[in-house]
Amino acid sequence: MHLQHTLVMLVLVLSLDGQVHTVEIIGGHEAVPHSRPYMVLLERRVHSTTKYCDGFLLNEDFVITAAHCQANSYDALLGVHNYHKHGQQKISVEQEFPHKDYNKTGRMTNDIMLLKLSTKANVTDFVKPIGLAGAGDRSLPQHCLVSGWGTKSNTTNRMTSNLMEVNVTLVEEAICNQDHLYCSEGDTGPAPGDSGGPLVCEDSRAYGVVSFTYKPHPPANLKPIHGFTRIADYKAWIDWTVAFKGKISHK
Ligand SMILES: *[C@@H]1O[C@H](CO)[C@@H](O)[C@H](O)[C@H]1NC(C)=O
Ligand SMILES: *[C@@H]1O[C@H](CO)[C@@H](O)[C@H](O)[C@H]1NC(C)=O
Ligand SMILES: *[C@@H]1O[C@H](CO)[C@@H](O)[C@H](O)[C@H]1NC(C)=O
Ligand SMILES: *[C@@H]1O[C@H](CO)[C@@H](O)[C@H](O)[C@H]1NC(C)=O
Repeated sequence: MHLQHTLVMLVLVLSLDGQVHTVEIIGGHEAVPHSRPYMVLLERRVHSTTKYCDGFLLNEDFVITAAHCQANSYDALLGVHNYHKHGQQKISVEQEFPHKDYNKTGRMTNDIMLLKLSTKANVTDFVKPIGLAGAGDRSLPQHCLVSGWGTKSNTTNRMTSNLMEVNVTLVEEAICNQDHLYCSEGDTGPAPGDSGGPLVCEDSRAYGVVSFTYKPHPPANLKPIHGFTRIADYKAWIDWTVAFKGKISHK
């Protein structure tokens, strides 16, 4: 593994306008509408442009995403399947809490961020928080799934209008363990725009946060490597942030 080299971040630098293509999270398929009620489409403003990341609902007040999704301001869209349809809950973000040790130079590490919503999310059939892996969950989970609106086949750059999902198989790698990551390998997996979404495993809890894809340079005959921030290793930080920062009253 050569994660030290250029990491290809999954931030979506694309806009949602233009034609919509029916394309996948690479190698995936459309999710059953609203079967992933924890999914959040994060509309981010970076200077004057609008960009997107994914995130997931931790409770009525907090969304988890990747630290590299930091922006000047955000709106969280909840209960979305097709982003062209209305009726979802749109809540602005009041405060961001990127991990203080997030480091994007060299190997990307501690790529996790909590966002506090300005008003509570209404929990409905389409909007529900997801449980997290516990701090003790250290073994490699099986049967994991990533969902997101990030496109694509690896040859197009547009977001998908419908939520897509793909199964991923995690691999044991010393360097991933060292960096508090889960890793998967292969051509299928998260794509640009899927950043910040959850890695959901066998017992339907969130085990990771979509962080990066590293594409080895040709001619090296290596498959892309996908990195997910390992939630178990950040559980204490998450609990602390929610307990203390969650007490600040809403505006
Ligand atoms: C939540 O429900 C309340 C009461 O129906 C409503 O006033 C509020 O706008 C809803 N919040 C969102 C984000 O849709
Ligand atoms: C970030 O990572 C780089 C490369 O590993 C390291 O040289 C640098 O000291 C780190 N920065 C911080 C603030 O930890
Ligand atoms: C994805 O994983 C689920 C749960 O393990 C399984 O039921 C399903 O058949 C898998 N789908 C594909 C396309 O492999
Ligand atoms: C795109 O993905 C396909 C398999 O889905 C793979 O064969 C091909 O090498 C990939 N191309 C690039 C440029 O990554």
